[in-house]
Amino acid sequence: MIHITRRERFNAAHRLFSDELTDEQNMEVFGKCSNPNWHGHNYELFVTVKGEIDSETGFLVNLKTLGNIIKSKVIVKLDHRNINLEVDFMDGKFASTENLAVGIWNELEKSVIEIGAELHCVKVVESENNYVEYYGS
Ligand code: NI
Repeated sequence: MIHITRRERFNAAHRLFSDELTDEQNMEVFGKCSNPNWHGHNYELFVTVKGEIDSETGFLVNLKTLGNIIKSKVIVKLDHRNINLEVDFMDGKFASTENLAVGIWNELEKSVIEIGAELHCVKVVESENNYVEYYGS
C-alpha cells in the first residue's frame, strides 16, 4: 500500500455566522471569519490517495489525472467563489473548513475509485496556522 498526495489551490470567500446571533455575538463566537461583508482565504487542498503500485507504470495513479479530477470536481466550483452562496456541495452547510473538507471528500470519492485508487485524506489549509484533515469518517 502506498500513499500519494496532490496539492491544488483555490481562493474563495466565506462567512461563518449564525442567523440566530447578532453581529456582535457572531464576532465573539467566530471572530474575524464572521465579518458581515465576507472575506477571503487562499486555501490549499491536499488530496491523498492510496493503493498499490501499477507494475507497468510504477505509479499508483497518474498525478496529472488526479489533478484534473480535483480541478474539474471541486476547484472549478470553489475558486473565486463565495462558499456560502455559490458552491452546490456546500448548500445549506456552515462554511467551515471542517465541512469543506467533508464536502470535497464526497465530491472526489467516486472519481478516485474510477482511476484505481482509494481516497485516504482530504486536507484543507485555510491559513498559515489552521488546517483540517478528513479521513472519510
Ligand atoms: Ni474565514
